[in-house]
Amino acid sequence: MAARERVLSGMRPSGRLHLGNYLGALANWVKLQDDHECFYFSADWHVLTDRLDVRDVPASTLEMAADWLGAGLDPERSTLFIQSLVPEHAELHLLFSMVTPVSWLERVPTYRERIEQQEIASPSYGLLGYPLLQAADILMYKARYVPVGIDQAPHVELTREVARRFNNAFGPVFPEPDVKLTEIPKVPGTDGRKMSKSYGNDIELADSPETIRAKVRPMVTDPARKRRSDPGNPDVCPVFDLHKIFTPQPDLDFCATNCRTAGFGCLDCKEILLKHMLPPLEKIRDRRQHYAEKPDMIKQVLVEGSRRARAVAQRTMTEVRSAVRLTP
Ligand code: TRP
Ligand code: SF4
Repeated sequence: MAARERVLSGMRPSGRLHLGNYLGALANWVKLQDDHECFYFSADWHVLTDRLDVRDVPASTLEMAADWLGAGLDPERSTLFIQSLVPEHAELHLLFSMVTPVSWLERVPTYRERIEQQEIASPSYGLLGYPLLQAADILMYKARYVPVGIDQAPHVELTREVARRFNNAFGPVFPEPDVKLTEIPKVPGTDGRKMSKSYGNDIELADSPETIRAKVRPMVTDPARKRRSDPGNPDVCPVFDLHKIFTPQPDLDFCATNCRTAGFGCLDCKEILLKHMLPPLEKIRDRRQHYAEKPDMIKQVLVEGSRRARAVAQRTMTEVRSAVRLTP
């Protein structure tokens, strides 16, 4: 059997994941395990580019990892690790900082956005270097593919440029990775805006069926459908966006038709959605609870994964050091 191509991706630990995180990233990570050699990690150093109070990060890391395992990431097949437990990333980041013009980093869209949106008067050196640390994360494992959303594509592009620049200076060490764009379905929150923890409109993978029910029932629908007798338009209804994700045919068409003809009420429509969305989510939730009750087991998975990742990182750094050739 040919060696499976290597995939690497990471998430910043921000606690429990919601449906948007699952459908936009994690579900794809799970699928990739079947025919790739996957490395997935918690980007905890990256949190420090945002804030220095990181007391919540250890707990957030465990919550996130519980969701990973609940969703089906398999530590036997994939290497699940913590960035800060593989300090080689920092060494590679330092070397990359020497080959990268500051102007490349200043042009990165996420950097500019962060400064504007958060009105950061004096951005840290670490924030500027964020994509370079990401380049180190990726190139350390000589990943073939990096599955990320479109917002992260410029970081992978920068990673390719850094690899080229390093190779030109010191010899061919790093292959250039390709971005594997994750098709991100529209996942609305309960208020109709994009699902986001900060809006408080999210459905967590940790939510019980009762909680999900309580969140979906009052969910915003087509605002034109005020009364049961008003026909609606599924194309502008956030509930229908969820239907498109969870509800198979013929129920999907049934709901669209009955919406347009006022054949049933929004609550009937939501009941059909719940019938289809609760079982798959309950499976994930049960498995995540099983792990969440045993944080020591999660820790063990992450420590063991980090040990495996570190062995790969140490091999890469041996190559890197002999390419850079500093020590007598
Ligand atoms: N920057 C990514 C995000 O915010 C997280 C990340 C860090 C990452 N290092 C990475 C993703 C390496 C892919 C590969 O989502
Ligand atoms: Fe939305 Fe369904 Fe109500 Fe139509 S019937 S507006 S699709 S919830």
